Amino acid sequence: MKAIILSGGKGTRLRPLTYTGAKQLVPVANKPILWYGIESIVAAGITEIGIIISPETGEEVKTKTGDGEQFGAKITYIVQESPAGLAHAVKIAQPFLGDSPFVMYLGDNLVQSELDLFLEQFHAANLDALTLLCPVANPSAFGVAKVDEQGRLLQLVEKPKDPPSNLALVGIYIFSPVIHDAIAAIQPSPRGELEITDAIQMLIDQQKSVEARQIRGWWLDTGKKDDLLEANRIILDTCLQTNLQGEVDEQSQIIGRVEIGTGSKVINCTIRGPVTIGKDCHLENCFIGPYSSISDQVTLINADLEHSVILKGATVEGIHHRIVDSVIGRRAHLKEAPRRPKALRFMIGDDCQIELN
Ligand code: G1P
Repeated sequence: MKAIILSGGKGTRLRPLTYTGAKQLVPVANKPILWYGIESIVAAGITEIGIIISPETGEEVKTKTGDGEQFGAKITYIVQESPAGLAHAVKIAQPFLGDSPFVMYLGDNLVQSELDLFLEQFHAANLDALTLLCPVANPSAFGVAKVDEQGRLLQLVEKPKDPPSNLALVGIYIFSPVIHDAIAAIQPSPRGELEITDAIQMLIDQQKSVEARQIRGWWLDTGKKDDLLEANRIILDTCLQTNLQGEVDEQSQIIGRVEIGTGSKVINCTIRGPVTIGKDCHLENCFIGPYSSISDQVTLINADLEHSVILKGATVEGIHHRIVDSVIGRRAHLKEAPRRPKALRFMIGDDCQIELN
């Protein structure tokens, strides 16, 4: 069994963060989203992993993730020259996959369910495809499935205006090598992409054994800001453990589960967990409230925030309002004028969203 993880794409819904980096490397609880997928694949016993990367962000994914040693896996990088669809990604991965069955994992998906059980069922029933489903309130934003009572897939439609059910296709699929024949036979969709849903539909039409299972627990497609904050909240809630490596002075109060990385200094702050703080940060006179993730090399002085994600190298200084539900990008600098300003001065990148009250 092998696995491929798709880590290309343009990440338009997470702009501006994704102008300068891959969406799969945006951190959730200070760990790149992509790494959760790698870890869950390795936990299911698969160690040969191909990561599909784009020419634009591929180098960054490669440099950060490495050859797989840190995960106990062997990672092969495969460049997809253009975003020509999920089935196209499988097509270019064929030399890597050979005639092995495989898991296909979309690199911006996070799921609570473990893969083992689904892999067992795939093998036990000798399936050609197993797709995972999750009931959602907005099925039109996803691939949608119609299934019978035995869990057999009857129909799949990509982003339908009039969805046949509320069951969205989670971005995790298990295939036998027959999927390659189906992919070779499909045509690009009206949006110009080779759709994996069309290839699976072809297997269904050819009476191959295609089934679906509903996942248990949460599923997060971290495509947008609020999804990212929600993913951050859930991961901090379920996975974070207290681990204080940095320096915390006597004036500071640490309450609940808090992680502080090496080289970080916390001076006269109140930190109410769950909160994770990376390495080499400087926090002074701050209140950091629950569900906040602060990446490495962040400076927070006279700041007050909660339920927010602050990315690497950002600075927040002298903001006398509480910052909530916010994502602050890498190296961003947020600073309030010492006295009430007569005018506001900005240098704001494309697609930023700022609310002043
Ligand atoms: C893709 C798939 C869709 C699936 C979704 C899950 O959509 O095409 O069927 O439901 O991933 O994340 P995308 O996120 O690329 O729009």
